[in-house]
Amino acid sequence: MISENMKTIFDIGLVPLIVLDDAADAVDFGNALVKGGIPIAEVTFRTAACLDSIRAMAQQVQGIIVGAGTVHTVQQAKDAVEAGAQFIVTPAFNPAVTEWCVMNHIDILPGTVSPADIEAASAFGLEICKFFPAAAYGGITTLKALSGPFAHIKFMPTGGVNFDNMNDYLDLPNVAAVGGSFMTPSDMVKNKDWDGIAATCQKVFKHLLG
Ligand code: 3PG
Repeated sequence: MISENMKTIFDIGLVPLIVLDDAADAVDFGNALVKGGIPIAEVTFRTAACLDSIRAMAQQVQGIIVGAGTVHTVQQAKDAVEAGAQFIVTPAFNPAVTEWCVMNHIDILPGTVSPADIEAASAFGLEICKFFPAAAYGGITTLKALSGPFAHIKFMPTGGVNFDNMNDYLDLPNVAAVGGSFMTPSDMVKNKDWDGIAATCQKVFKHLLG
């Protein structure tokens, strides 16, 4: 069963990737996403500021759905949820993290790239998987090939998704959303250009609507 949060995420179809060095920027960053019309944040465990950033966004940014990305361990998943994360994203298929999320009714988008990964995720009853790194693993061609044997699975491709190809991915019937850093350019984050982030999200959102 798909949660209300996941329904909202897949209605919007866009999952911005967040890499923050300083949790003090998390609220401004989150507000920029909301202002830009994409009130969703996958805050990654790629920096030490991840947990504090999740906590700050969850507590102080109105209307945002915050999740944790680049989750490699059950402990990270537990810590993220305790900090306020509402969903978990893993870069690879990780049975331990997946099992913990399923047992605790936490939304999980496990990283998959092969039929074997997808089969393993499906065995947990999951219907939506991340497909990463999408471009390097055949992108649209691979997603089309997967749609036959895995007709019950939808994907969130990330890794090489950009402004120019996002609609090609989203036009595929088995793509529920696209994710990535193209909505949150690192130079803007570094320069604390929150208006720039909001404008980028608005541009992406308008492009999606055509
Ligand atoms: C991810 O973790 O999903 C990817 O690193 C996103 O890749 P991108 O930087 O190409 O958007």
